[in-house]
Amino acid sequence: MLLTTNSQSETERFGKKLSAKLRGGDILLLSGDLGAGKTSLVKGLAKSLGIKHEITSPTFTLMNTYKVQGSKSKVKNLVHIDTYRLKDEKELLEIGVEDYLGKPDTICVIEWPEKISGLLKNKKTTSISFEHGNKPEERKILIS
Ligand SMILES: Nc1ncnc2c1ncn2[C@@H]1O[C@H](COP(=O)(O)OP(=O)(O)OP(=O)(O)O)[C@@H](O)[C@H]1O
Ligand SMILES: [Mg+2]
Repeated sequence: MLLTTNSQSETERFGKKLSAKLRGGDILLLSGDLGAGKTSLVKGLAKSLGIKHEITSPTFTLMNTYKVQGSKSKVKNLVHIDTYRLKDEKELLEIGVEDYLGKPDTICVIEWPEKISGLLKNKKTTSISFEHGNKPEERKILIS
């Protein structure tokens, strides 16, 4: 599926809509250049899961985990990973990524997933890629 957004808030809104389709255990791989809109999508996703905490990019922390409170679904955690500054997959293993990846009570969203292909092999994932469009605020988002 391919769609176009024309502002950050539109990308967030798409994240909100997408959350209705997600189940625990889902792993979303978000690829695209710096500033492509990956974190913006996660912000929308988090809002619609009822997470009040502000979503900030885990560029330095590598992995941020958010509790999903009072959810009627089985989803208890949203985990947001950004491997942009990661040097070795081991760094993520050391902070417990395997406690979350593909776990039935957790939705994982990963920016720059190509850097951890080893950790992701044998895992069922959904890829979402972002590209800048012709206009400054246009983004093409492809889900496959
Ligand atoms: N259609 C759009 N969707 C999302 N963001 C947009 C859009 N148009 C402009 N922007 C701007 O682009 C930037 C997107 O930032 P965001 O943090 O979501 O990107 P990112 O892909 O996560 O980047 P990074 O790889 O640095 O983490 C924001 O400054 C936002 O205001
Ligand atoms: Mg980001």
